[in-house]
Amino acid sequence: MDHILVTGSLGQLGSELVPALQVKYGRIGVIATDNHPPAGDDYPGQFHLLDVLNKAAIQETIEKYQITQIYHLAAILSANAEKNPALAWRINMDGLLNVLEIAREAGISKVFWPSSIAVFGPDSPKTHTPQNTLMNPNTIYGITKVAGEKLCAYYNEKFDMDIRSLRYPGLVGYKSLPGGGTTDYAVEIYHQAARSGSFTCPLAENTALPMMYMPDAVRATLELMAADKKSLCVKTSYNLAGISFAPKEIYAAIVRHCPDFMIAYSPDFRQQIAASWPDSIDDSAAQKDWNGKWRTISKG
Ligand SMILES: NC(=O)c1ccc[n+]([C@@H]2O[C@H](COP(=O)([O-])OP(=O)(O)OC[C@H]3O[C@@H](n4cnc5c(N)ncnc54)[C@H](O)[C@@H]3O)[C@@H](O)[C@H]2O)c1
Repeated sequence: MDHILVTGSLGQLGSELVPALQVKYGRIGVIATDNHPPAGDDYPGQFHLLDVLNKAAIQETIEKYQITQIYHLAAILSANAEKNPALAWRINMDGLLNVLEIAREAGISKVFWPSSIAVFGPDSPKTHTPQNTLMNPNTIYGITKVAGEKLCAYYNEKFDMDIRSLRYPGLVGYKSLPGGGTTDYAVEIYHQAARSGSFTCPLAENTALPMMYMPDAVRATLELMAADKKSLCVKTSYNLAGISFAPKEIYAAIVRHCPDFMIAYSPDFRQQIAASWPDSIDDSAAQKDWNGKWRTISKG
């Protein structure tokens, strides 16, 4: 029987991935962890405090719960990373190295680690950005994701491990709040429309970015993890595409339902990050290798 460890499980992705994993493996089979406790006393499942910088604690948790798969989500996201690059490097890189080393030592059968479209940079093609292209990111977050991809590929090849990864676009869902990324505005705008009736957007109105509806991202993750290892040719991380839109397009969609909703554009440091990222992504390698059908909702 599989026992799944999820790090950083209280974040935007973990809040929706953990329930999906519980459906597949049962509540008893999923150990959700984070470096702070959940809000409230009644976490719906098994929760364990775990800092990914504490290698011994990861090791103990893996032994205690007889973990067979790890979903390593703990990270500092793009906008927060720019505020504290050294911390972002420690958590994103040392945390990943700890998990990979322990997985190797413990013979963990599978590891999932999310990468991001932030691996691309100003000299990558802007539209339909291919799987393999120039990747020279100019953000610390992007640098940790490129280095993380290379580290995963190294462990896959050197130690014959099974580490799988997706380059998520900006994730948009209504069940959880985003954690300090450049695409957070696409979630926050809905909350502000409902709460205050106005929103100040940190990106310029025409800044198109690749995005994905959270249930599609969760489904893609589970499908990748279920795919036959022999069919997976990409040992770093798969491009993943949903839709692309700019702030003015979400605003136009919301205003159809909330005619009094106001928006102001006040681009800040996040505009520069967004400007270095692709407008749209080519994920044909993922479609070819594991035939994902994750775009049903995002395309709908
Ligand atoms: N949300 C997106 O749009 C998006 C897009 C691309 C990639 N990703 C990747 O997906 C993963 C999850 O992202 P998310 O949106 O859920 O992020 P998030 O910021 O919402 O959640 C990250 C979680 O990690 C935890 N964490 C931070 N430091 C930790 C530590 N030292 N030990 C243990 N836990 C720690 C935080 O408490 C938080 O709950 C990350 O690797 C991120 O880079 C997310």
